[in-house]
Amino acid sequence: MSGLDAPSIALVGAGAMGGALVRGWIEAVRKGGGLTLTVIEPNFDPALQAELESVGAVLNPPDAGPVDVLVLAVKPQAFAEAAKSARRFVGANTCVLSIMAGITIEKLSRELGGERVVRAMPNTPSRIGRGITAYVPSPACGEDDKALVAQLLAPLGEVEPMAAERLMDVVTAVSGSGPAYVFLLAEVLAVAGEQEGLDKETAMRLASRTVAGAGALMLETGENPSVLRKQVMSPGGTTEAALDILAAADGLGPLLRRAVAAAAKRSRDLGKA
Ligand SMILES: NC(=O)c1ccc[n+]([C@@H]2O[C@H](COP(=O)([O-])OP(=O)(O)OC[C@H]3O[C@@H](n4cnc5c(N)ncnc54)[C@H](OP(=O)(O)O)[C@@H]3O)[C@@H](O)[C@H]2O)c1
Repeated sequence: MSGLDAPSIALVGAGAMGGALVRGWIEAVRKGGGLTLTVIEPNFDPALQAELESVGAVLNPPDAGPVDVLVLAVKPQAFAEAAKSARRFVGANTCVLSIMAGITIEKLSRELGGERVVRAMPNTPSRIGRGITAYVPSPACGEDDKALVAQLLAPLGEVEPMAAERLMDVVTAVSGSGPAYVFLLAEVLAVAGEQEGLDKETAMRLASRTVAGAGALMLETGENPSVLRKQVMSPGGTTEAALDILAAADGLGPLLRRAVAAAAKRSRDLGKA
C-alpha cells in the first residue's frame, strides 16, 4: 500500500476488523501523506492509539463533523445503536464504507443520510492482511470514492469489486463464511487421522499444517487448485483412492453446493430482516 492522501476518517467499531484496518492505515501513513482519524469504540487498543500518534496522525480531533469517509465496523446487531453516533460524520461530501454483514446499501443510506455508500465483505484472514474483500458501490459513488475505498480496504488483503449488490449474498457464502469451511476441513481430517491410529495432537498438527501449506502453495504459485490437486495424484495411488470418494456424485461437491446455498439464503433473509 502506498501513502494516504490525508483523508479524514471516522471509524465506528475498532475490534478485530476495524483494528486490522487501523493497523494498515498506520503502515500507509508511515509511507507518506497523513490521516485525521476519529475512533468511536469503547475499548480502543491503547497500542494502536500510541502508534497513530507516533506516525503523526491526528487522532480524535475535537468537535469532529462530516468526514471524507465514515467506516462502519461494528457487528450488524450493533448498527442501529452505532448509527446514532455516526450520523454527525456524514455530510454532502462523505462516502460511507460499511463492512457489516447483511446491512444493505439502502438501509445504510436511509439510517445515515448519505447517498455515496460502499458495502464491503471481508473475511477473517484479513486480520493478517491475507483476506479477500468484495465490495459494491452505490450508483452515487464516483471514481474517486471507489479509488479511496479500495485504498482503505487494501490492508485487509485483496480487494474485489462486484457488479451488483445482490451478489453480496453469495460473496458472504463463499469468501465471508468460507474460512470456517476450511477450518472444519482441518478438524475432520484430524479426526479421520485419529480414527486410523494417529494420536490426537499429531493428527491435528498434520491436518492443520497440511491445510495451511496447501493454501500457501495455491497463493504463492498462483496455480489453479485443480492443477495442484492433480500434481498430488498418481494413477491407482492413495490420493486417487480418497478422491474417488470425495469427488463422487454424493461427495464434497454437492455437499458444499448445499452449504453455500444455505449460507446465501441466510444472508438474503438477514438482509430482509
Ligand atoms: N470477523 C469476520 O470474519 C467478518 C467477516 C466479514 C465481515 N465482518 C463484519 O465486520 C464487522 C466487525 O466484525 P468484527 O469481527 O471486527 O467484530 P468485533 O471484533 O466484535 O468488533 C466490533 C467492535 O465494535 C464495538 N462496538 C459495539 N457497539 C458499538 C457502538 N455502538 N459504537 C462503537 N463501537 C461499538 C465493539 O465493542 P464491544 O466488544 O465492547 O461490544 C467491538 O470492539 C461485523 O459487522 C461483521 O459482520 C466480519
